[in-house]
Amino acid sequence: MKILFFSVKPYDREFFIRQNKPYGFQLDFFDEPLNHNTAVLAKGYEAICIFVNDSADPETLNLLAQQGVKLIALRCAGYNNVDLTKANELGIKVVRVPAYSPYSVAEHTVALILTINRKTHRAYNRVREGNFALNGLMGFDLKGKTVGLIGLGKIGIATSRILLGFGCRVLGFDVEKSDEVEKLGVEYCELDELYAQSDIISLHCPLTPQTHHIINGNSIEKMKQGVMLINTSRGALVDTQAVIQALKSGQIKYLGIDVYEEEADLFFEDLSDKVIQDDVFMRLLSFNNVLITGHQAFFTEDAMLEISKFTLSNISSYFKGGELENEVN
Ligand code: NAI
Repeated sequence: MKILFFSVKPYDREFFIRQNKPYGFQLDFFDEPLNHNTAVLAKGYEAICIFVNDSADPETLNLLAQQGVKLIALRCAGYNNVDLTKANELGIKVVRVPAYSPYSVAEHTVALILTINRKTHRAYNRVREGNFALNGLMGFDLKGKTVGLIGLGKIGIATSRILLGFGCRVLGFDVEKSDEVEKLGVEYCELDELYAQSDIISLHCPLTPQTHHIINGNSIEKMKQGVMLINTSRGALVDTQAVIQALKSGQIKYLGIDVYEEEADLFFEDLSDKVIQDDVFMRLLSFNNVLITGHQAFFTEDAMLEISKFTLSNISSYFKGGELENEVN
């Protein structure tokens, strides 16, 4: 049984080859992303494996179905890049890894909060140049501050545990409530209240038609002056143009993002020799109170082990004809 992997990086090869020993699948690795131009490469493969910025839009899915693809295994938690209605119509099953390590993303979220608050990224450069001045490096205590989390699933819960440990008050908004969250000490509230009261707002909900641009000019207006906004979930939760306006006016005083609306053309590649054409992204980079990482929140050894293990186990369940525990539909 053979599987074609798209958007493969050296670390993917390493972890998947290691975890494949008990299965003995033929793993074929392809560096380029999946899209309507590359879908034909899947000819003869019943199963393919894709990542966050591969595009399984209706046109690509049609082409995949024509090549004989019957299973798309996502090696990630989010599935917004697959048109599920079309996949279902074509009889293509979609599986994902729903919970590999919520700690990896939660800890990166807190790393962004701490870095942008205490400005350790700027301090690092200053000290290396012999500049020990503290001007511009002042932060604030996290203890006693109110943090609003939008989405309290696995990552939201893991993030709230850390923040509660810092002595923060944690507010939460989710379309579904859970006892576990309330027992932790997180206070559920409506979105408007979360916007009005939070010193820091962090996004942990999936990207869906309902959450697309959930952070926009209107919602930003409802936030505290000088709020910190963190997004480690999906880029299109945030209307980037509205955030740029708010950074210019000072309504948003700190921005930390690991994801970006148009990241598919940028992230996971070394573009240091190229001229970056995305003017919106370059504007974001020009603010000294904005910290951007390139979709690395998941990237820990522990998470990569789990991702490769569960992806191969999902594929194995499909080939065995068993129940697909992690099917998305
Ligand atoms: P999860 O499924 O455990 O939790 C998502 C939560 O969001 C659920 O409680 C759900 O009820 C809630 N939700 C759904 N619609 C909502 C809405 N309209 N408003 C508020 N809440 C809503 O997912 P998990 O594992 O916590 O992951 C969350 C997101 O994090 C993923 O969808 C993915 O986009 C992102 N992610 C980012 C990674 C990175 O490397 N930057 C890695 C892994 C996930």
